[in-house]
Amino acid sequence: MQSNDPSSAPCPCSIIGTGSYLPERIMTNEDMSKIVDTSDEWITSRTGIKERRIAGPEQATSDLATNAALKAMEAAGVTAADIELIIVATVTPDMFFPSTACFVQKKLGATNAVCFDISAACSGFLYAMTVARQFLNSGSRKTALVIGAEKLSSLINWTDRNTCVLFGDGAGAVVMQRSDEPNPPGRVLSAVMGSDGSLTDLLKVPGGASACPITADNVGLRPNTIHMEGRETFKHAVTRMCQASEQALAIAGKTAADIDMVIPHQANARIISVIADRLGVPEEKTFINLHKYGNTSAATIPVALDEAHRSGRIKRGDVLLLVAFGGGFTWASSVMVW
Ligand code: UT7
Repeated sequence: MQSNDPSSAPCPCSIIGTGSYLPERIMTNEDMSKIVDTSDEWITSRTGIKERRIAGPEQATSDLATNAALKAMEAAGVTAADIELIIVATVTPDMFFPSTACFVQKKLGATNAVCFDISAACSGFLYAMTVARQFLNSGSRKTALVIGAEKLSSLINWTDRNTCVLFGDGAGAVVMQRSDEPNPPGRVLSAVMGSDGSLTDLLKVPGGASACPITADNVGLRPNTIHMEGRETFKHAVTRMCQASEQALAIAGKTAADIDMVIPHQANARIISVIADRLGVPEEKTFINLHKYGNTSAATIPVALDEAHRSGRIKRGDVLLLVAFGGGFTWASSVMVW
């Protein structure tokens, strides 16, 4: 059920550039209250979300991903030809196949890359980073593009107030590279991952794939939208994110007192607050942007990392704790030195 990355010792690969892209269209809580029986007061007090971004009908997940990737590549100073691996974490691929990563490859012209997607819901980006590290540490690839990208608006049941107010669209990307330095900036010290497939029912999109194809008979039930048992998911999220954080800190040889910034999955401000409290990290050391974007699943952590970096909230040498939880259930945590 729980697996620790065996190569968690300090490794000579690191994040050398970050980028993010959020669609222009803003949908506020006030806008939501015109669609379903909700209010700004309920959404703000129960989740911390004030608004979210919604992609245009002409934008697929790979378009959001490509925009974020271009910014990360510019920041890293690499060209499309330098990229040897593209991993996209997403639950909203452009199509069942080809992979979204292959569409990103085409849009970037990254002809030297091997490309595939990872499906681990909101933990997807940290899973993808760990997979990329294996390629880089093994020496099989030098430069990787790791992306978390979602067009969750394509999976929302806009008549279900329990879920439709929570999610948004966006993408974040990092360029990871094997380094010749023993301790490069942006290095990952530890990675913890876990899954519990006995709880698949609590958070899922039940229809639209092989288990339940969309038919003329079931289309009205909207099976191809997000279904979530919110309270149960909340409880598991808190427990698993705390456990994973403690494990990632222990493997890295750090304690909560060493943390300069927690970059948590952005699902609910109350979850983040409970985790900070349990870990003993002051709230000002938690990065929060979910008031602007809502829950963008695999995109939350790379978007937050990019914003924290570009805004100066994190600086070189800071110790970061990244932690996520999502459908599956899946969870993951990493400690980094920025
Ligand atoms: O990203 C992957 C992981 N996801 C998460 O970690 C999400 C975890 N869950 C949560 O964040 C919270 O459970 C939610 C934000 C989804 C819901 O908050 P809650 O405090 O757990 O509310 P609840 O589901 O227990 O519902 C409380 C009440 C219900 O009314 P009754 O039955 O008490 O009369 C709901 O019908 O709030 C009602 N409600 C709403 N009212 C106004 C649910 N959604 C809304 C809404 N507006 N949008």
